[in-house]
Amino acid sequence: MACISFAFKALCLSLLVVAVTCRPDTGPQVFDVQSYGAKGDGQTDNTNAFTNAWKDACAWNGLSRMYIPEGTFFIGGVTFGGPCKGQTSFVIDGTLLAPTNNDDIKKETWINFCHIDFLTISGGGTIDGQGKESWPRNDCDKNINCPKLAINMGFDYVNNSSIEGITSLNSKAGHLNFYAVDHFSITGVNITAPGDSPNTDGIKIGFSSNIQISNTHIGTGDDCIAILSGNTNFEISHVTCGPGHGISVGSLGRYKEEKNVDGLVVRDMVFTGTSNGVRIKTWESSVVAILVSNFVFANIQMIDVESPIMIDQKYCPHPPCKKMGESHVQIEDVTLKNIWGTSMNKVAVNLQCSESFPCKNVYLVDINLTHNGTDGPATALCENVEGSASGNMFPPHCLN
Ligand SMILES: *[C@@H]1O[C@H](CO)[C@@H](O)[C@H](O)[C@H]1NC(C)=O
Ligand SMILES: *[C@@H]1O[C@H](CO)[C@@H](O)[C@H](O)[C@H]1NC(C)=O
Ligand SMILES: *[C@@H]1O[C@H](CO)[C@@H](O)[C@H](O)[C@H]1NC(C)=O
Ligand SMILES: *[C@@H]1O[C@H](CO)[C@@H](O)[C@H](O)[C@H]1NC(C)=O
Ligand SMILES: *[C@@H]1O[C@H](CO)[C@@H](O)[C@H](O)[C@H]1NC(C)=O
Repeated sequence: MACISFAFKALCLSLLVVAVTCRPDTGPQVFDVQSYGAKGDGQTDNTNAFTNAWKDACAWNGLSRMYIPEGTFFIGGVTFGGPCKGQTSFVIDGTLLAPTNNDDIKKETWINFCHIDFLTISGGGTIDGQGKESWPRNDCDKNINCPKLAINMGFDYVNNSSIEGITSLNSKAGHLNFYAVDHFSITGVNITAPGDSPNTDGIKIGFSSNIQISNTHIGTGDDCIAILSGNTNFEISHVTCGPGHGISVGSLGRYKEEKNVDGLVVRDMVFTGTSNGVRIKTWESSVVAILVSNFVFANIQMIDVESPIMIDQKYCPHPPCKKMGESHVQIEDVTLKNIWGTSMNKVAVNLQCSESFPCKNVYLVDINLTHNGTDGPATALCENVEGSASGNMFPPHCLN
């Protein structure tokens, strides 16, 4: 491997007096996948070339960069594992192309990063999941043994890291998945799949902390962002969402290993034509007693959103749900502030909390949602909610 070129050495020798300034510059050591035999022709299977380039980049004791130049690089399911010796960047300028047949991926996640600190993913490139052929195989609403389709890109135990500028296209299942991640920033990302593609969640996160998502566009067939159990300290800002199902906290309360969700700010957002705007959902029949608290949703425009504001503690997507009692998830300290625009449903503010664990401290400030429809003005609906309101309030609130 070329560490310091011969010419560079000669130059250094001839300038011994200034040898100190003559060390190789501080840029990263580049591991170009093409040097490992990868071909950007859209057909060659580059899985091994990528795996080998990663092995060297990750083993480099210093700054390293795995580089994917312009071109279309076909790769199968691949795991980029750590821990790495130094700090690794992963720069995608080209397009990564997934196998069209899900069975050829042989992993839950097409491109998976795990156990890495200080990873930065960037570039103007695209990861194309080629999901179109797989979407008709998704019959999970009727079949519990439905095929498990691959997620485009996953991060497990990846800390102090970031992803910036990438496009994620037509995932088979979700686009970006995060598990047990701490201090991670997602910015300038573009997530795209058709509005009718099943289960193509945009960003899905569980058991993670200190996450920032900003300046991102998400248009997909399922949740734009799904915040699952065990998450703390999130800030989501300047994200445009649509088509899709909006931002969801949950669904929660179904599995006994779930943990609290604490500290979520969602601000400066635009939702266009989504089925929900901001939503918290917990299973109707669940006895998992977790706490969901300290949420702020502020400065949000809703453009023809079916159901802009929703707390649903009777979530049961495929009824009947086995009745075990009311949801035991406690929701408290939720502020909804400066939210305006149009609702396709007449019920624009829908707060249905648990009878056994009523929502506490729900605070509404400056809401202005109008009904885009012919059956009368927008309304609000409250069940088992305690809270207060101030500022302009349309529809009139129903808190007590
Ligand atoms: C990242 O943080 C998680 C949780 O804080 C921890 O379990 C994991 O070991 C960390 N990963 C690395 C590579 O340090
Ligand atoms: C990430 O970096 C922060 C400081 O920037 C540090 O406090 C934190 O422990 C680090 N997280 C992990 C899991 O290494
Ligand atoms: C996102 O990517 C899609 C597909 O490449 C493209 O059509 C769209 O213009 C992009 N949107 C933004 C906001 O960059
Ligand atoms: C509420 O929105 C409607 C429709 O966009 C607008 O005409 C009205 O001025 C707004 N009200 C307030 C108090 O901002
Ligand atoms: C109301 O919804 C229709 C689509 O059903 C849309 O074409 C129209 O622009 C919407 N009007 C407003 C004021 O948002």
